[in-house]
Amino acid sequence: MCQTCQTFAGILVLCLINSAFLLENGLARTPPMGWLAWERFRCNTDCKNDPDNCISENLFRTMADIVISEGYAAVGYEYINVDDCWLEKERNNYGQLVPDRQRFPRGMKSLADYVHSKGLKFGIYEDFGNYTCAGYPGVLGYLRTDAQTFASWDVDYVKLDGCYAHPSEMDRGYPEFGFYLNQTGRAMMYSCSWPVYQIYAGMQPNFTSIIEHCNLWRNFDDIQDSWASVESIIDYYGNNQDVIVANAGPGHWNDPDMLIIGNFGLSYEQSKAQMAIWAIMAAPLLMSVDLRSIRPEYKAILQNKKIIAVDQDPLGIQGRRIYKHKGIEIWSRPITPLYQNYFSYAVAFLNRRTDGTPSDVAVTLKELGLTSPTGYRVEDLYEDVDYGVLSPQTKIKVKVNPSGKYTY
Ligand code: GLA
Repeated sequence: MCQTCQTFAGILVLCLINSAFLLENGLARTPPMGWLAWERFRCNTDCKNDPDNCISENLFRTMADIVISEGYAAVGYEYINVDDCWLEKERNNYGQLVPDRQRFPRGMKSLADYVHSKGLKFGIYEDFGNYTCAGYPGVLGYLRTDAQTFASWDVDYVKLDGCYAHPSEMDRGYPEFGFYLNQTGRAMMYSCSWPVYQIYAGMQPNFTSIIEHCNLWRNFDDIQDSWASVESIIDYYGNNQDVIVANAGPGHWNDPDMLIIGNFGLSYEQSKAQMAIWAIMAAPLLMSVDLRSIRPEYKAILQNKKIIAVDQDPLGIQGRRIYKHKGIEIWSRPITPLYQNYFSYAVAFLNRRTDGTPSDVAVTLKELGLTSPTGYRVEDLYEDVDYGVLSPQTKIKVKVNPSGKYTY
């Protein structure tokens, strides 16, 4: 029987009452969760004039502190991830990477130790090409050395970008760097940008190989601080779901990019929508926001345990867009618990219209593909409404607040 069924605003979970490909590192059995600097803090290196917001060890220490003190760690956020612009422009005499001496005076091992002392994990950024996207030294020509350096700093997560590299060399290069990571003996999560650069170059990524070699990978554009950007990502994943969805599973995930909830660009409703759709997509949940000043209602979205549980569902089946008409979308994801070979489901209702008034969406469970004769317990994950146990023939009515640009 279904014990915990859930609904959302739209996101409903309809609980009933795999495809695990094991990477050698054994990590990311569920999508990684944490904090990542890029979208919010970019390549701000001006610590003289902007000491609190520049890319420096202080910023990451502070965020690690808050992830613990404000309850983010308690709901699953675990990684504190550095992105671009942490490096000196030159390697040292041994050909090793050197963190910026002014901004990371104690070095990366010390920062990793600090993050670990909090019970968290530490991530770093590099690039498969000659340079990172912001122009710092890339790993090309130094794959083994850099993997060893990261292991010696006790890094737990490596994001390997793909600027200044030939997309056709990535089929060889990304697995090679992964091989060197594995060879260090330290388990490091491996985030790849391999498919997105190949797609940009007009190539068809070899997802069989990507799944084998990466724990997560980017498929599409960088997220920006706007609803238009979030919508473009939702559309990309919806429009390409037949190619994308089956690639996700325990150990290997599609990465639609960071959560921008709590920044400047999304309204409250749009923030709820991002969280709900990312959970349906089994996306990594990497917050990129200033945790020092986030407003409580946005923090509550990021810390919504029921939606996080959907994202982290152990089956690891990525959801799909199952309906799209006149600005209303329905997204659905099979989740646990299973009962007599029927899945439970998380169902998100998205209203992209701009006509102001909440839209009524009425649909039977059967129309959503939910056919278990024993019925489903239905719960709203944002509003704490329990709809009780419903049969497949029951029509559910959901009011979905508008949050988008669709004009009818
Ligand atoms: C690329 C990546 C971003 C970020 C920047 C850093 O654009 O896709 O996520 O890492 O580089 O320069």
